[in-house]
Amino acid sequence: MAKFTLDVNGKSHVIDADPDMPLLYALRNDIGLNNPKFGCGLAQCGACTVHLNGQPVRSCITPVSAVGDAKVVTLAGLGTPEKPHPLQTAYIEEQVTQCGYCINGWIMTAAALLNRVKKPTDDQIKDALTGLKCRCATHMAIMRAVKRAAAMMG
Ligand code: FES
Ligand code: FES
Repeated sequence: MAKFTLDVNGKSHVIDADPDMPLLYALRNDIGLNNPKFGCGLAQCGACTVHLNGQPVRSCITPVSAVGDAKVVTLAGLGTPEKPHPLQTAYIEEQVTQCGYCINGWIMTAAALLNRVKKPTDDQIKDALTGLKCRCATHMAIMRAVKRAAAMMG
């Protein structure tokens, strides 16, 4: 066990953990953030995605010891109920959500894309979102929501 200080959604958290423990476990079990989800645990579905210094990473395979002083942002840190991220607004307006389990991965991955590319093409959106899984088959609605959010971000 060792002590790690994690900067998550702008707050500092000190946790005791095995260095190999996945960041996902620290976020969910030690810090109490349940927005990153455990799906496959094998980097295959994206449900656990968070940002490390703005880059989307799969927290189920990211050891807590690899985070260092990187800024971790989760879906809960992307926007607030009063000031949601455009993707969060677009998800509601396009009524994307079915069971909701996958939302975290799609929004966090799309948010990183929109930070990088202001007006992504359909192909750029599909490329960025490759590998994410939605068992409820909301893929067409997700495309509409990402494009709506891109338009809102102007
Ligand atoms: S839970 Fe991390 S990619 Fe599936
Ligand atoms: S909304 Fe159910 S898995 Fe995507």
